Amino acid sequence: MATPLLSVTDLQVGFATERGLLRAVDGVSFDLAEGQTLGIVGESGSGKSVTAKTLMNLLPSYARVEGSVMFDGRDVRAMAAERERHFWGVEMTMVFQDPMTSLNPVKKVGEQIAESLRVHLKRSRREARDDAGDLLQQVGVPESKKRLTQYPHELSGGLRQRVVIAMALACSPRLLIADEPTTALDVTVQKHILDLLDELREERGMAMILITHDLGVVKGRADQIMVMYAGRTMEQADTATLFSEMRHPYTEALLETIPRVDMASHSRLVPIPGSPPDAVDLGQGCPFAERCRYCSASCLIDQPSLEQHRQGHACACHAPVGTDAGAAAHAANHETGVTPAGLDMGTFATAVGEKT
Ligand SMILES: Nc1ncnc2c1ncn2[C@@H]1O[C@H](COP(=O)(O)OP(=O)(O)OP(=O)(O)O)[C@@H](O)[C@H]1O
Ligand SMILES: [Mg+2]
Repeated sequence: MATPLLSVTDLQVGFATERGLLRAVDGVSFDLAEGQTLGIVGESGSGKSVTAKTLMNLLPSYARVEGSVMFDGRDVRAMAAERERHFWGVEMTMVFQDPMTSLNPVKKVGEQIAESLRVHLKRSRREARDDAGDLLQQVGVPESKKRLTQYPHELSGGLRQRVVIAMALACSPRLLIADEPTTALDVTVQKHILDLLDELREERGMAMILITHDLGVVKGRADQIMVMYAGRTMEQADTATLFSEMRHPYTEALLETIPRVDMASHSRLVPIPGSPPDAVDLGQGCPFAERCRYCSASCLIDQPSLEQHRQGHACACHAPVGTDAGAAAHAANHETGVTPAGLDMGTFATAVGEKT
């Protein structure tokens, strides 16, 4: 395989807190090829944004980072230490959930895009203004000429996010990181923005990391998916494999939280019982054990490591879905009605698609 555009190896990010070290990211590794999309999926607090911010050199100075991040053969962490700021915003850019994080409320939209072009690409004022108009048109902003002279507050949420995308694309990055780019927008606008990102990625041959808590969002859009929980990778596979042969109970539980078209209107979605663990005090077992219907006694004391059962598909679980061990653990819990972690199996009894 050719050298990947981005290669992350055993990334660890911790924050010292009054209660002890908070392990926000714990041993994450992935490769991303040029022009490909990686989906990072997980519930709130699983370490998705911290991973993205590490890549973008946006962590606060008190963060403790270990591991390697290579971009096209260059050591990104070393570049950060040497303050090679020209890399970020040019070769690697990011779009955040809230467009106002990236926009200056008191500057006209056109000036903000043009500024990026002038600073990074040394365009003249006039060229930058023309290019800013072209960029707005490319991201589907109607009446782009007029928009250039407006302030962010004069635009709708969806248009603002398009402006942010235009700014992120200004310098033709090779990697775009989109961190929940649509969660602040209403449903119809969400799809338009996600489709737009995908079209632009394809047109420009750009690679993308798409971060979301919704497996449904990455289903038709990502080439690879990494499922994160409590800072760790629970499952990693190409998208088709993940959906057809998912092995981690957490991935399965996440899937059940997505509405399906074939569901009867009265059927309810299944929220995952409980909530994610405290990242300061993760204990020694599997971080998902407390919420898992496949939990066995060993899951409470022995943290499963991420293992590849075949090329390109890795999972960190003692009793994976679809295996004999998984079926046995589930059957045993069903029999007793409660998991070794004390979770009532009745919680799942009315669940859609429940296996009994
Ligand atoms: N600057 C920081 N200082 C201390 N702890 C932090 C900091 N940033 C993030 N964390 C903690 O790191 C963990 C991972 O946070 P992160 O923002 O990556 O989650 P996330 O997966 O992006 O969640 P969400 O879906 O809510 O955006 C959380 O426990 C969070 O509280
Ligand atoms: Mg986040």
